[in-house]
Amino acid sequence: MTPWLLPETFDRALFLRDYWQKKPLLIRGSGSFSDPISPDELAGLACESIVESRLVQSDAARTGWKVRNGPFTEKDFSALPPTHWSLLVQAVDQWHEGVRGMLREFDFIPRWRIDDVMISVASDGGGVGPHFDYYDVFLIQGLGRKRWQLGGAVDSQSPLLPDTDLRLLKHFDPQENWIVEPGDILYLPPNLAHYGIAIGDSVTYSIGFRTPSVAEILDDFSAALVQDLPPDLRYFDSDPEVPARPGELRASVAEQILGLIHTQLLDKRRAGRWFGRYMTSPKYPELSNASAEPLSVQTLLQYLDDGEVLLRNPAARLAFTDHDDGADLYADGHLLPCSKALGALLPQLCDPFTEAVDWLDAFLASTEGARLMTDLYNHGCLYLADDEESDD
Ligand code: SIN
Ligand code: CO
Repeated sequence: MTPWLLPETFDRALFLRDYWQKKPLLIRGSGSFSDPISPDELAGLACESIVESRLVQSDAARTGWKVRNGPFTEKDFSALPPTHWSLLVQAVDQWHEGVRGMLREFDFIPRWRIDDVMISVASDGGGVGPHFDYYDVFLIQGLGRKRWQLGGAVDSQSPLLPDTDLRLLKHFDPQENWIVEPGDILYLPPNLAHYGIAIGDSVTYSIGFRTPSVAEILDDFSAALVQDLPPDLRYFDSDPEVPARPGELRASVAEQILGLIHTQLLDKRRAGRWFGRYMTSPKYPELSNASAEPLSVQTLLQYLDDGEVLLRNPAARLAFTDHDDGADLYADGHLLPCSKALGALLPQLCDPFTEAVDWLDAFLASTEGARLMTDLYNHGCLYLADDEESDD
């Protein structure tokens, strides 16, 4: 693979050791960047009801901010002023193969950590204001130039500007100032104040990561856990004694309760399985291709015999875990346990840049593998297409 975004000299291991989740880094491009998508195509996507988009506008002094959610119309765009607006289109990797291809070079971070590629198209002076994100981001400059101002570390306690849904920082003290050109990549760790302002027309590609908060983890994990617990597993009195003061709830009961909770939390397989399902849950579950009427294995094989091909849904989120006694496949929030033999095929399946021809026959060679392909089809992670479509 010829690197196109990251320069040949980029040291992945060094980046992970010294910068990832720690400090910002400006990676100057190799000079050969060409945008995989045009501003017109992005505006077209922002007119689709199934695509998430926002339009951010400010006054020339960048003190007043306005944000509108898509879908938009051509009229919305033709009514825009010449400067100080930015159109943000979310998850373009799900809709555009060229944009999806940008993720290839970021395989030094596990794929399940990547959330999406968001693209901003801005006019001169446009930007989304000074803010911070709770997740890591690679900001790849496409067309045009942008000035990035970086501030210090901020958090949920930092005061925000009132009256805007943009979560803009009330106080922003730029400490670094970088002008980026096409192909330059700015990496920002979570919780760092930043503000990008377009210099002329500009396109920026943001690779954002899934970084759930501990509150979100506990919330979802405990909801999943309680589903598995039978009602007859209950509180019990350990070492009951006649109480000297019947109204007293002794401090030592806290230890017993913690013990009871711990026992449930310490199941490693359960925690890993929950996390795999959580991190592969679809970004837009409402757009799922899951079949209302699931196909049987026989019917799927028949379609394939008749010349149809199985392709990976570009929005599918797949990951796997190896165990001593088999493997677990996570697919769009579903858990699909596999044998050791089938587990050996999962790395190929879970790499979004392999073609189905590279792994499909190996799966179909066993009954278990054919069942797995059918389950993935029924969950909407794979779809059937006629042969010509797969050549496009
Ligand atoms: C932008 O592309 O201008 C905004 C991206 C960000 O700051 O996260
Ligand atoms: Co940001």
